[in-house]
Amino acid sequence: MNNAGFGVCGRFDETDIKEEVGMIQLHAIALVELTKFFVRDMLDRKKGKILNIASLAAFQPMPFFNVYAATKAFVLSFSESLASELQGTGVTVSVFCPGAFQSGFQQRARLENVPIYQGKLPTAEEIAEIGYREMKKNKRVIIPEWKFKILLFIARFLPRNVVTQTNKSLMTKRNS
Ligand SMILES: NC(=O)c1ccc[n+]([C@@H]2O[C@H](COP(=O)([O-])OP(=O)(O)OC[C@H]3O[C@@H](n4cnc5c(N)ncnc54)[C@H](OP(=O)(O)O)[C@@H]3O)[C@@H](O)[C@H]2O)c1
Repeated sequence: MNNAGFGVCGRFDETDIKEEVGMIQLHAIALVELTKFFVRDMLDRKKGKILNIASLAAFQPMPFFNVYAATKAFVLSFSESLASELQGTGVTVSVFCPGAFQSGFQQRARLENVPIYQGKLPTAEEIAEIGYREMKKNKRVIIPEWKFKILLFIARFLPRNVVTQTNKSLMTKRNS
């Protein structure tokens, strides 16, 4: 499972490029390297399950969370392509795309006062359980909550700039 990750929230001209480069390194480069490292053994054994953790942010642009969303889009695309490539080998690839949930992520990403992270969020345990269960069923793209499945479906029919603008307002920090 490739789970390690963190976010950086803020205006692009104000965030720290070192953090963003580190995020690209972790979410994209390390994930590809680790997958390459393990997949060969799995293929030799004709058995294995790879679970990559992306995010709901993988599906669309997220202003003020732009590099994070772009790296998760990479994880989603890479995982779906690889899942197709490995079809019939006994090795499966699942990509998990949760929305906001409670963890250490919010504080590290400086997401306080961001609307998407307000209200009661599912716990990390609740979300992880769904991911594990669906991976066992060899589900390729796992979206753990029905409300997000419906929203993603609706978003397909909307102009991309409308979706981006909606995300912008959901990611704009409110005064506490
Ligand atoms: N929480 C959310 O709302 C949310 C939503 C969608 C997707 N996700 C994704 O879910 C995954 C897990 O995040 P989480 O919410 O469980 O956050 P978390 O509680 O902060 O856990 C993040 C994990 O990533 C590790 N990590 C962070 N930076 C690292 C680095 N540079 N090198 C190696 N390991 C590093 C951390 O290790 P240490 O503890 O050793 O630092 C920790 O184990 C991430 O990929 C995140 O993008 C989270």
